[in-house]
Amino acid sequence: MAPAHNGNGKNGSKIPRHVAIIMDGNGRWAQARGLDRAEGHAEGARAVREAVETSTRLGIKYLTLYAFSVANWQRPRHEVEALMRLLIEFAKQERHDLRQNGIRVNVIGNLEDLPTATRHAVEELIEYTRDGDRMTLTLALSYGGRQDIVEAARSLAVRARAGLVLPEDIDETFFHRQMTTHSLPDVDLLIRTGGETRVSDFLLFESAYAELVFLPIMWPDFTAGRLLECIEVYNGKERRFGKTSEQVQGSGAVVVPHPFDPLDRPS
Ligand code: IPE
Ligand code: IPE
Ligand code: MG
Repeated sequence: MAPAHNGNGKNGSKIPRHVAIIMDGNGRWAQARGLDRAEGHAEGARAVREAVETSTRLGIKYLTLYAFSVANWQRPRHEVEALMRLLIEFAKQERHDLRQNGIRVNVIGNLEDLPTATRHAVEELIEYTRDGDRMTLTLALSYGGRQDIVEAARSLAVRARAGLVLPEDIDETFFHRQMTTHSLPDVDLLIRTGGETRVSDFLLFESAYAELVFLPIMWPDFTAGRLLECIEVYNGKERRFGKTSEQVQGSGAVVVPHPFDPLDRPS
């Protein structure tokens, strides 16, 4: 079983293996400057670039970004369209750098819900970066955490009815394999910008034991320094996973069985 952490960074700090970010606050950032919300999203894309670069440099293996939720389809049409266009721009502008830096792009959620041009741009990006082995950058697009759980349950029910799955074989690992997050390990550190202290339907199953960090700053103001601060906070936590502090310290390193660890699975 692989350790829960990716290893040690500079100054002996532990680098979380899987960092997930709820990138909130683009709209308020823009409105505070008298700009259109869409301009906040464009500025947010710049912050994405910096977060990706920093994560790669730090040795984070999995970075998952909440870019568009299932609920976000309810926003005004022009805002949704601006976000869909920005995704195309991001895919086109970043493809070379992402590949060059060994970053593989992955998607969770319902890619098929996106407008054709956006879907194609994202699919092309996934294909273009498929050999990246330094970091997996997962974009949550038309993503809903509850929906992902319910879809997994439904697909198992269908297969059980057909006699292809035995109910007694369904455990947490098997269940997770049916989800769109099947190739991702558990979240170690979940960050939300924008000042709200809620998870807004993000990675409900996968964040069961994540450390949560909420920042008052708006997403476009998120910098490399902020990410480092979050990792410092993470390093100050004792991850007990239900055990006592004495048990955890007695065992030396905090090594946790990762039920959903794709790195442990036979390929
Ligand atoms: C970005 O922040 C999140 C996305 C849905 C793309 P918001 O657009 O939610 O910004 P606020 O929360 O309204 O400020
Ligand atoms: C969460 O932000 C979704 C993304 C960051 C993509 P929202 O702005 O949609 O969440 P709520 O509405 O504040 O819960
Ligand atoms: Mg918001």
